[in-house]
Amino acid sequence: MPDTVSKSPLSQQELAFFKTHGYLILRQILDPALLARARARLWDAAPTSMHRDDPSSWVGPIPTDQESEERDNHRRGFRWQYRQIGDEPWMVQMLPKNPTVWALAEQLLGEGRLVEPSGVRGIYCTLPYGDHATTANGCHVDAHPFHFGAVAYIDDVEPGGGGFRVWPGSHRTFYYDFQTAYQREPNDQYEPDKARIGAGPSVDCYGRAGDVVLWHHRIGHMASHNTTRRIRQAVLYDFRKDDWETTQSDPPAQDMWQDWSDEIRSVQLL
Ligand SMILES: [Fe+2]
Repeated sequence: MPDTVSKSPLSQQELAFFKTHGYLILRQILDPALLARARARLWDAAPTSMHRDDPSSWVGPIPTDQESEERDNHRRGFRWQYRQIGDEPWMVQMLPKNPTVWALAEQLLGEGRLVEPSGVRGIYCTLPYGDHATTANGCHVDAHPFHFGAVAYIDDVEPGGGGFRVWPGSHRTFYYDFQTAYQREPNDQYEPDKARIGAGPSVDCYGRAGDVVLWHHRIGHMASHNTTRRIRQAVLYDFRKDDWETTQSDPPAQDMWQDWSDEIRSVQLL
């Protein structure tokens, strides 16, 4: 990684892509040493039936007697969410405070305008489905207040490997499908839009360890099924601007980029 990071890590083309499609994949921007540390630490919390050196033991679902409802280490079905280490400083350094990531977040929301991170969501895993049938794809919109999310892969995610799946451009519809700009009450348009958009084309954002997917808070998305043999391992963080507590209950703005930086506001859609 370079020692110095440009003040404007995203090009005009990347800004236009994000604004138009609601997501952007950045390749190889995280510190490999921290990624290796995260991959190793995950196994501190593994169910006894799973072994790091035996990929055949990784296939889901998690045996019923190994399930855990504990928030810090939630394990059920094909999902394993290890949140306990999410507030350790090196995890924050790995993703939101990575110099490139922090600089691009300021480029999007304004310099000095980000909420300081106290932690990340943790390591979210999707286990291989093996011979189990997968269900149909369908999108949803997250509805807790934030401006954009970052999904960081700490291990390689092949196509079909449980990568973050997005419905490109859907943020420009879904933004107006809620009564407020950042909270969770959908209006009458949400369900029909969700059915229509979810039946349309989507993109599997697969990638390698060290890649990061940025996504607008109102884009339609899902955590894809994992039809590969590797565990999908991702660290998630939600960026928020410092005025979110006052803007969260505003109605959606006519210009959906109203709260964003002048730079992205001035970029033309593709
Ligand atoms: Fe979601």
